[in-house]
Amino acid sequence: MTALMNLAIVGSGYVGLVTGTCFAEVGHHVICVDNDLKKVKSLQAGHIPIYEPGLEELVKKNVAEGRLSFTASIGDAVAASKVIFIAVPTPPQPDGSVDLSFVEGVAREIAMHIKEYRVVVDKSTVPVKTGEKVAQTIKRYNPDAPIDVVSNPEFLREGSAVDDLMKPDRIVFGVSSDKATAVMREIYEPFKAPILVTDLNSAELIKHAANSFLALKISYINAVAAICEASGANVERVAEGMGADHRIGRAFLNAGIGYGGSCFPKDISAFIRISRELGYEFTLLEEVEKINFNQKERFLKKIRESLWVLRAKKIGVLGLAFKGNTDDVRSSVAIEVVKQLISEGAEVTAYDPKGMEKALPLVPGCKMAGKAEDVADGADALLVLTEWSEFKTLPYAAMKKRMLSPLLFDGRNLLDPQEMRGLGFTYTGVGH
Ligand code: UGA
Repeated sequence: MTALMNLAIVGSGYVGLVTGTCFAEVGHHVICVDNDLKKVKSLQAGHIPIYEPGLEELVKKNVAEGRLSFTASIGDAVAASKVIFIAVPTPPQPDGSVDLSFVEGVAREIAMHIKEYRVVVDKSTVPVKTGEKVAQTIKRYNPDAPIDVVSNPEFLREGSAVDDLMKPDRIVFGVSSDKATAVMREIYEPFKAPILVTDLNSAELIKHAANSFLALKISYINAVAAICEASGANVERVAEGMGADHRIGRAFLNAGIGYGGSCFPKDISAFIRISRELGYEFTLLEEVEKINFNQKERFLKKIRESLWVLRAKKIGVLGLAFKGNTDDVRSSVAIEVVKQLISEGAEVTAYDPKGMEKALPLVPGCKMAGKAEDVADGADALLVLTEWSEFKTLPYAAMKKRMLSPLLFDGRNLLDPQEMRGLGFTYTGVGH
């Protein structure tokens, strides 16, 4: 039987909140910390600031059962917890590097409160060698602090974060002492997943290398999609044929308008940047970024070519979130497409099942529809920009009747081209 542990998670954003909740769910006692007092109060009152399937129920259950609590005080959390996870944002900077000031600030604050042995675990996605700096920082502000610093990257995907955390493919931690290794094994024992123990720097690199590789797969298939369009081949059949080789795998070979979100764009730039600092020009990843940018441009070009003039054209948009099953619109390609269309004079009406509230301030000129089908009203074209599965089953025949012209641009290859053409749409997908 696993001994349950007292854990603190500093930073109650997507990663921190989901991680803390899942740790509580397997029996640990967890204190989630955030410096945003309003957020802490609202979490204490049972309001979840993000949409993530299954999360709200789990938070409520674990709070009610006394295993999960929220505070704004790092001091209280450090005093009560043997292990402190850092899960604060590492936002991108204009030069491609990441801003590590939140990580550094939390490390300093933790240092001030450490009186006995503590394991400080970095969960935020950070460039290689950050853990070493966290350890140095804590030692600088509290030279006698008995600590071990561990890197424990997170591999959860938004939209399926709870599942990814409860049933992980693997757990990675980078650690330099047997004592901290034992503590980390104890925390993760209830998850019954394969554990890979590495040195600190390798664990940090695993995260950047894994995310960059997934982004590379997406850009690869998007480049193949361009060749498919030029040659009359079908990218979905090509992806199927490639993916059936178990060395390649079908996952992350869905062509579309490109990857977005708070992770891939930032992590790829950060990996290019840290590689350069370490003396290696990772030009392969520069190309991944370029293909991703061009993918959106190629999509916009198809719309311009069909509509000829965008000014005063009514465009209905399905999807604003950076992917399905989330309300997250950070670095969403859908938002970038809408912004571009508006800047060229189009009148855009959009619908997203969860993302409209967060999208509104980013696309001020965009009208939001009450129902998905309403975006078709008087539209010159209809665009699918996010892979929400509920968009697969909309009443497209009825929607077509409400449109001025039957142009349908499917930026996520979500719909069946034959079926849509059968309904009378002029259907354009990606890569076929
Ligand atoms: C990604 C990784 O998948 C997680 O493993 C990682 O933990 C996380 O980043 C992170 O670093 O925190 P996430 O950003 O939530 O997760 O979303 P993904 O499902 O990876 O999708 C990213 C983007 O790629 C989305 O815009 C999605 O639409 C796009 N995508 C994905 C494609 O265009 N094609 C695909 O085949 C797959």
